[in-house]
Amino acid sequence: MPQVTVTEHLLLHQKRTPMATGRFTSLLNQLILAVKIIAREVNKAGLVDVLGFTGDINVQGEEVKKLDEYSNSVLIHRMRQAGVLCAMSSEENAGIIEIPEGYPQGDYVLIFDPLDGSSNIEANINIGTIFSIYRRKTPSNSAATLEDLLQMGIEQVAAGYFIYGSSTMMVFTTGQGVHGFTLDPSVGEFLLSHPDIKIPERGSIYSINEGYRTYWDDATKEVVDYFKSPDNENGAPYSSRYIGSLVADFHRTLLYGGIFMYPYDRRDPSKPKGKLRLLSEANPLAFVVEQAWGLATDGVNRTLETQPTELHQRVPLFIGSPADVGKVREIYKKHGVI
Ligand code: AHG
Ligand code: MN
Ligand code: MN
Repeated sequence: MPQVTVTEHLLLHQKRTPMATGRFTSLLNQLILAVKIIAREVNKAGLVDVLGFTGDINVQGEEVKKLDEYSNSVLIHRMRQAGVLCAMSSEENAGIIEIPEGYPQGDYVLIFDPLDGSSNIEANINIGTIFSIYRRKTPSNSAATLEDLLQMGIEQVAAGYFIYGSSTMMVFTTGQGVHGFTLDPSVGEFLLSHPDIKIPERGSIYSINEGYRTYWDDATKEVVDYFKSPDNENGAPYSSRYIGSLVADFHRTLLYGGIFMYPYDRRDPSKPKGKLRLLSEANPLAFVVEQAWGLATDGVNRTLETQPTELHQRVPLFIGSPADVGKVREIYKKHGVI
Protein backbone atom coordinates (compact mmCIF):
# COMPACT_ATOMS: atom_id res chain seq x y z
CA MET A 1 0.00 0.00 0.00
CA PRO A 2 1.55 3.39 -0.96
CA GLN A 3 2.53 5.31 2.18
CA VAL A 4 0.04 8.19 2.74
CA THR A 5 1.04 10.94 5.16
CA VAL A 6 -1.45 12.93 7.24
CA THR A 7 -0.80 15.97 5.07
CA GLU A 8 -1.50 14.06 1.85
CA HIS A 9 -4.62 12.57 3.44
CA LEU A 10 -5.81 16.07 4.42
CA LEU A 11 -5.10 17.47 0.95
CA LEU A 12 -7.27 14.67 -0.40
CA HIS A 13 -9.92 15.72 2.13
CA GLN A 14 -9.50 19.38 1.33
CA LYS A 15 -10.46 18.57 -2.25
CA ARG A 16 -13.58 16.91 -0.80
CA THR A 17 -14.39 19.63 1.73
CA PRO A 18 -14.14 22.94 -0.19
CA MET A 19 -14.68 25.02 2.97
CA ALA A 20 -11.54 23.49 4.49
CA THR A 21 -8.57 25.81 4.18
CA GLY A 22 -4.79 25.40 4.21
CA ARG A 23 -4.90 27.04 7.66
CA PHE A 24 -6.57 23.96 9.07
CA THR A 25 -3.83 21.77 7.58
CA SER A 26 -1.15 23.96 9.14
CA LEU A 27 -2.98 23.75 12.51
CA LEU A 28 -2.78 19.96 12.39
CA ASN A 29 0.82 20.02 11.22
CA GLN A 30 1.81 22.23 14.17
CA LEU A 31 -0.07 19.90 16.51
CA ILE A 32 1.80 16.93 15.02
CA LEU A 33 5.14 18.67 15.53
CA ALA A 34 4.30 19.32 19.19
CA VAL A 35 3.32 15.67 19.63
CA LYS A 36 6.56 14.43 18.07
CA ILE A 37 8.45 16.50 20.66
CA ILE A 38 6.28 15.09 23.45
CA ALA A 39 6.67 11.53 22.14
CA ARG A 40 10.45 11.92 22.21
CA GLU A 41 10.34 12.90 25.89
CA VAL A 42 7.75 10.27 26.83
CA ASN A 43 9.86 7.50 25.30
CA LYS A 44 13.06 8.83 26.88
CA ALA A 45 11.28 8.88 30.25
CA GLY A 46 10.45 5.22 29.69
CA LEU A 47 14.06 4.44 28.79
CA VAL A 48 15.47 6.39 31.73
CA ASP A 49 12.95 4.63 33.91
CA VAL A 50 13.94 1.16 32.74
CA LEU A 51 17.68 1.42 31.93
CA GLY A 52 18.67 3.99 34.53
CA PHE A 53 20.35 6.20 31.93
CA THR A 54 21.95 9.36 33.19
CA GLY A 55 18.76 11.33 32.34
CA ASP A 56 17.61 14.03 34.70
CA ILE A 57 16.53 12.29 37.90
CA ASN A 58 13.43 14.55 38.03
CA VAL A 59 12.09 12.73 35.02
CA GLN A 60 11.92 9.52 37.04
CA GLY A 61 10.64 10.87 40.35
CA GLU A 62 8.23 13.56 39.32
CA GLU A 63 8.13 12.58 35.67
CA VAL A 64 4.29 12.32 35.77
CA LYS A 65 3.95 15.89 36.89
CA LYS A 66 6.97 16.84 34.86
CA LEU A 67 5.53 15.25 31.75
CA ASP A 68 2.09 16.76 32.28
CA GLU A 69 3.65 20.19 32.61
CA TYR A 70 6.21 19.54 29.87
CA SER A 71 3.56 18.33 27.39
CA ASN A 72 1.32 21.25 28.28
CA SER A 73 4.05 23.86 27.76
CA VAL A 74 5.16 22.31 24.44
CA LEU A 75 1.60 22.37 23.12
CA ILE A 76 0.91 25.94 24.29
CA HIS A 77 4.24 27.24 22.96
CA ARG A 78 3.95 25.59 19.55
CA MET A 79 0.26 26.22 19.01
CA ARG A 80 0.61 29.92 19.92
CA GLN A 81 2.91 30.27 16.91
CA ALA A 82 0.63 28.37 14.56
CA GLY A 83 -1.13 31.62 13.57
CA VAL A 84 -4.50 29.85 13.24
CA LEU A 85 -5.93 30.04 16.76
CA CYS A 86 -7.82 32.73 18.66
CA ALA A 87 -7.77 30.82 21.98
CA MET A 88 -6.93 27.53 23.64
CA SER A 89 -8.03 25.62 26.73
CA SER A 90 -6.00 22.90 28.43
CA GLU A 91 -6.98 20.45 31.14
CA GLU A 92 -3.94 21.78 33.00
CA ASN A 93 -4.92 25.48 32.88
CA ALA A 94 -7.74 26.94 34.96
CA GLY A 95 -8.84 29.56 32.46
CA ILE A 96 -8.81 30.46 28.75
CA ILE A 97 -5.32 30.50 27.16
CA GLU A 98 -5.17 33.63 25.00
CA ILE A 99 -3.00 34.25 21.96
CA PRO A 100 -0.86 37.17 23.13
CA GLU A 101 -0.39 40.46 21.23
CA GLY A 102 2.21 40.08 18.51
CA TYR A 103 1.32 36.48 17.75
CA PRO A 104 -0.65 35.87 14.52
CA GLN A 105 -4.32 35.13 15.25
CA GLY A 106 -6.73 32.79 13.50
CA ASP A 107 -10.32 31.64 13.71
CA TYR A 108 -9.86 28.19 15.26
CA VAL A 109 -10.07 27.15 18.92
CA LEU A 110 -8.03 24.25 20.32
CA ILE A 111 -8.96 22.35 23.50
CA PHE A 112 -6.71 19.58 24.77
CA ASP A 113 -5.69 17.16 27.47
CA PRO A 114 -1.91 17.37 27.03
CA LEU A 115 -1.12 14.09 28.71
CA ASP A 116 -3.91 11.65 29.50
CA GLY A 117 -3.33 8.71 31.86
CA SER A 118 -0.17 10.30 33.19
CA SER A 119 -0.38 8.33 36.45
CA ASN A 120 0.63 5.34 34.31
CA ILE A 121 3.84 6.68 32.76
CA GLU A 122 6.03 5.37 35.62
CA ALA A 123 4.92 1.84 34.73
CA ASN A 124 5.55 2.47 31.01
CA ILE A 125 1.86 1.98 30.25
CA ASN A 126 0.23 3.70 27.25
CA ILE A 127 -0.67 7.37 27.71
CA GLY A 128 -1.91 9.92 25.22
CA THR A 129 -2.85 13.43 24.14
CA ILE A 130 -6.48 14.30 23.31
CA PHE A 131 -7.51 17.28 21.15
CA SER A 132 -10.64 19.03 19.98
CA ILE A 133 -10.93 21.82 17.36
CA TYR A 134 -13.76 24.33 16.89
CA ARG A 135 -14.30 27.44 14.77
CA ARG A 136 -14.60 30.60 16.87
CA LYS A 137 -18.12 31.96 17.54
CA THR A 138 -17.21 35.60 18.27
CA PRO A 139 -16.19 38.06 15.48
CA SER A 140 -12.67 37.60 14.06
CA ASN A 141 -11.36 41.02 15.04
CA SER A 142 -12.40 40.73 18.71
CA ALA A 143 -10.76 39.08 21.73
CA ALA A 144 -11.82 35.45 22.13
CA THR A 145 -14.19 34.76 25.02
CA LEU A 146 -15.53 31.74 26.90
CA GLU A 147 -18.32 31.67 24.30
CA ASP A 148 -15.70 30.43 21.81
CA LEU A 149 -14.75 27.56 24.17
CA LEU A 150 -18.07 26.52 25.71
CA GLN A 151 -19.46 25.07 22.48
CA MET A 152 -21.43 21.82 22.20
CA GLY A 153 -19.44 18.83 20.94
CA ILE A 154 -21.53 18.72 17.77
CA GLU A 155 -19.77 21.98 16.75
CA GLN A 156 -16.33 20.35 16.59
CA VAL A 157 -14.65 20.61 13.17
CA ALA A 158 -12.03 17.99 14.11
CA ALA A 159 -11.03 15.87 17.10
CA GLY A 160 -8.84 12.94 17.97
CA TYR A 161 -6.00 11.61 20.05
CA PHE A 162 -2.38 10.52 19.97
CA ILE A 163 -1.37 7.37 21.85
CA TYR A 164 2.22 6.89 23.00
CA GLY A 165 3.08 3.22 23.23
CA SER A 166 4.96 0.52 21.30
CA SER A 167 4.37 2.96 18.45
CA THR A 168 2.99 6.50 18.44
CA MET A 169 -0.39 6.62 16.73
CA MET A 170 -2.72 9.44 15.70
CA VAL A 171 -6.44 8.74 15.35
CA PHE A 172 -8.70 11.61 14.30
CA THR A 173 -11.76 12.72 12.37
CA THR A 174 -12.73 15.88 10.48
CA GLY A 175 -16.29 14.60 10.14
CA GLN A 176 -15.36 12.39 7.17
CA GLY A 177 -14.86 9.10 9.01
CA VAL A 178 -12.05 8.07 11.38
CA HIS A 179 -8.51 7.38 10.21
CA GLY A 180 -5.46 6.08 12.08
CA PHE A 181 -1.85 6.98 11.35
CA THR A 182 1.30 5.44 12.80
CA LEU A 183 4.51 7.43 13.31
CA ASP A 184 7.41 6.07 11.29
CA PRO A 185 10.32 7.40 13.36
CA SER A 186 12.77 6.73 10.52
CA VAL A 187 11.09 9.42 8.39
CA GLY A 188 9.34 11.35 11.19
CA GLU A 189 5.97 11.12 9.44
CA PHE A 190 2.61 9.75 10.57
CA LEU A 191 1.63 7.26 7.84
CA LEU A 192 -1.91 6.00 7.20
CA SER A 193 -2.18 2.58 8.88
CA HIS A 194 -5.87 2.29 9.84
CA PRO A 195 -8.05 3.83 7.08
CA ASP A 196 -11.76 4.33 7.78
CA ILE A 197 -12.04 2.74 11.25
CA LYS A 198 -15.52 1.42 12.15
CA ILE A 199 -16.40 0.09 15.62
CA PRO A 200 -18.15 -3.32 15.80
CA GLU A 201 -21.92 -3.09 16.35
CA ARG A 202 -21.53 -5.08 19.62
CA GLY A 203 -18.38 -6.10 21.47
CA SER A 204 -17.37 -8.59 24.13
CA ILE A 205 -15.23 -6.41 26.40
CA TYR A 206 -16.38 -4.02 29.13
CA SER A 207 -14.06 -1.50 30.76
CA ILE A 208 -14.71 0.20 34.12
CA ASN A 209 -12.89 0.67 37.42
CA GLU A 210 -14.77 -1.90 39.51
CA GLY A 211 -12.94 -0.75 42.62
CA TYR A 212 -15.62 1.93 42.98
CA ARG A 213 -18.61 -0.45 42.88
CA THR A 214 -19.62 0.50 46.43
CA TYR A 215 -20.21 4.08 45.27
CA TRP A 216 -22.31 3.32 42.16
CA ASP A 217 -26.06 3.73 42.01
CA ASP A 218 -28.27 0.66 41.43
CA ALA A 219 -28.65 1.37 37.71
CA THR A 220 -24.86 1.30 37.17
CA LYS A 221 -24.56 -1.89 39.23
CA GLU A 222 -27.23 -3.53 37.04
CA VAL A 223 -25.41 -2.34 33.87
CA VAL A 224 -22.11 -3.91 34.93
CA ASP A 225 -23.85 -7.09 36.17
CA TYR A 226 -25.46 -7.37 32.70
CA PHE A 227 -22.06 -7.36 30.95
CA LYS A 228 -20.68 -9.88 33.47
CA SER A 229 -23.64 -12.22 33.15
CA PRO A 230 -23.84 -15.24 30.76
CA ASP A 231 -27.45 -14.15 30.07
CA ASN A 232 -26.59 -11.16 27.88
CA GLU A 233 -27.06 -10.96 24.09
CA ASN A 234 -23.63 -12.58 23.60
CA GLY A 235 -24.71 -15.51 25.77
CA ALA A 236 -21.42 -15.24 27.64
CA PRO A 237 -19.82 -12.83 30.10
CA TYR A 238 -17.83 -9.96 28.54
CA SER A 239 -14.11 -9.85 29.29
CA SER A 240 -13.01 -7.13 31.68
CA ARG A 241 -10.16 -4.85 30.57
CA TYR A 242 -9.16 -1.64 32.36
CA ILE A 243 -5.85 0.12 31.75
CA GLY A 244 -6.59 3.37 33.59
CA SER A 245 -5.52 5.53 30.65
CA LEU A 246 -8.65 6.79 28.89
CA VAL A 247 -6.89 7.03 25.52
CA ALA A 248 -5.65 3.42 25.73
CA ASP A 249 -8.98 2.04 27.01
CA PHE A 250 -10.83 3.97 24.30
CA HIS A 251 -8.42 2.97 21.51
CA ARG A 252 -8.91 -0.72 22.35
CA THR A 253 -12.71 -0.21 22.49
CA LEU A 254 -12.68 1.54 19.08
CA LEU A 255 -10.69 -1.25 17.40
CA TYR A 256 -12.14 -4.32 19.17
CA GLY A 257 -15.64 -3.09 20.13
CA GLY A 258 -17.33 -3.18 23.53
CA ILE A 259 -17.81 -0.38 26.02
CA PHE A 260 -15.77 1.95 28.22
CA MET A 261 -17.61 3.37 31.24
CA TYR A 262 -16.72 6.06 33.73
CA PRO A 263 -20.00 6.65 35.61
CA TYR A 264 -20.68 9.21 38.28
CA ASP A 265 -20.09 7.78 41.74
CA ARG A 266 -20.65 8.94 45.30
CA ARG A 267 -16.93 8.70 46.20
CA ASP A 268 -16.13 12.38 45.83
CA PRO A 269 -18.98 14.86 46.50
CA SER A 270 -16.92 17.54 44.69
CA LYS A 271 -17.20 15.45 41.50
CA PRO A 272 -20.92 14.65 41.30
CA LYS A 273 -20.64 13.96 37.55
CA GLY A 274 -17.64 11.59 37.65
CA LYS A 275 -14.01 12.28 36.82
CA LEU A 276 -13.76 12.77 33.04
CA ARG A 277 -13.88 16.24 31.53
CA LEU A 278 -16.47 17.10 28.90
CA LEU A 279 -14.39 19.51 26.80
CA SER A 280 -10.95 17.89 26.77
CA GLU A 281 -11.81 14.18 27.08
CA ALA A 282 -15.47 13.15 26.50
CA ASN A 283 -16.36 15.40 23.53
CA PRO A 284 -13.32 14.68 21.31
CA LEU A 285 -13.66 10.91 21.84
CA ALA A 286 -17.43 11.11 21.35
CA PHE A 287 -16.90 12.80 17.95
CA VAL A 288 -14.44 10.06 16.97
CA VAL A 289 -16.66 7.19 18.12
CA GLU A 290 -19.78 8.57 16.36
CA GLN A 291 -17.78 8.97 13.14
CA ALA A 292 -16.84 5.28 13.56
CA TRP A 293 -20.56 4.41 13.92
CA GLY A 294 -20.42 4.11 17.71
CA LEU A 295 -22.21 5.97 20.52
CA ALA A 296 -21.23 8.15 23.48
CA THR A 297 -23.63 9.16 26.27
CA ASP A 298 -23.79 10.16 29.92
CA GLY A 299 -25.80 6.97 30.34
CA VAL A 300 -28.84 8.28 28.48
CA ASN A 301 -28.15 11.59 26.69
CA ARG A 302 -25.80 12.06 23.72
CA THR A 303 -22.47 13.46 24.94
CA LEU A 304 -22.07 15.74 21.89
CA GLU A 305 -25.34 17.53 22.73
CA THR A 306 -24.30 18.48 26.27
CA GLN A 307 -24.26 22.28 26.61
CA PRO A 308 -21.02 23.16 28.48
CA THR A 309 -21.32 25.74 31.27
CA GLU A 310 -17.72 25.72 32.50
CA LEU A 311 -14.32 24.81 31.05
CA HIS A 312 -13.54 21.84 33.29
CA GLN A 313 -16.97 20.43 33.89
CA ARG A 314 -17.07 16.67 34.27
CA VAL A 315 -19.51 14.20 32.79
CA PRO A 316 -20.29 10.51 33.17
CA LEU A 317 -19.08 8.71 30.01
CA PHE A 318 -20.39 5.52 28.37
CA ILE A 319 -18.69 5.11 24.99
CA GLY A 320 -18.27 2.32 22.44
CA SER A 321 -20.30 -0.13 20.36
CA PRO A 322 -23.84 1.10 19.67
CA ALA A 323 -25.52 -2.08 20.96
CA ASP A 324 -23.57 -1.94 24.24
CA VAL A 325 -24.04 1.79 24.88
CA GLY A 326 -27.71 1.34 23.91
CA LYS A 327 -28.09 -1.36 26.57
CA VAL A 328 -26.88 1.12 29.22
CA ARG A 329 -29.52 3.63 28.09
CA GLU A 330 -32.21 0.89 28.33
CA ILE A 331 -31.22 -0.03 31.92
CA TYR A 332 -30.78 3.60 33.02
CA LYS A 333 -34.22 4.51 31.65
CA LYS A 334 -35.74 1.52 33.44
CA HIS A 335 -34.32 2.97 36.67
CA GLY A 336 -35.58 6.43 35.76
CA VAL A 337 -32.00 7.80 35.83
CA ILE A 338 -31.51 11.17 34.02
P1 AHG B 1 -5.46 12.48 33.23
O1 AHG B 1 -4.19 11.70 33.38
O2 AHG B 1 -5.49 13.33 32.00
O3 AHG B 1 -5.84 13.21 34.49
O4 AHG B 1 -6.64 11.42 32.95
C1 AHG B 1 -6.75 10.33 33.79
C2 AHG B 1 -8.12 9.73 33.63
C3 AHG B 1 -8.25 8.84 32.40
O5 AHG B 1 -7.08 8.75 31.65
C4 AHG B 1 -8.59 7.48 32.97
O6 AHG B 1 -9.65 6.88 32.26
C5 AHG B 1 -9.04 7.79 34.39
O7 AHG B 1 -8.35 8.96 34.78
C6 AHG B 1 -8.73 6.69 35.34
O8 AHG B 1 -9.30 7.09 36.57
P2 AHG B 1 -9.32 6.06 37.80
O9 AHG B 1 -7.89 5.92 38.24
O10 AHG B 1 -10.20 6.73 38.82
O11 AHG B 1 -9.92 4.76 37.32
MN1 MN C 1 -7.17 12.78 30.84
MN1 MN D 1 -4.20 14.88 31.51
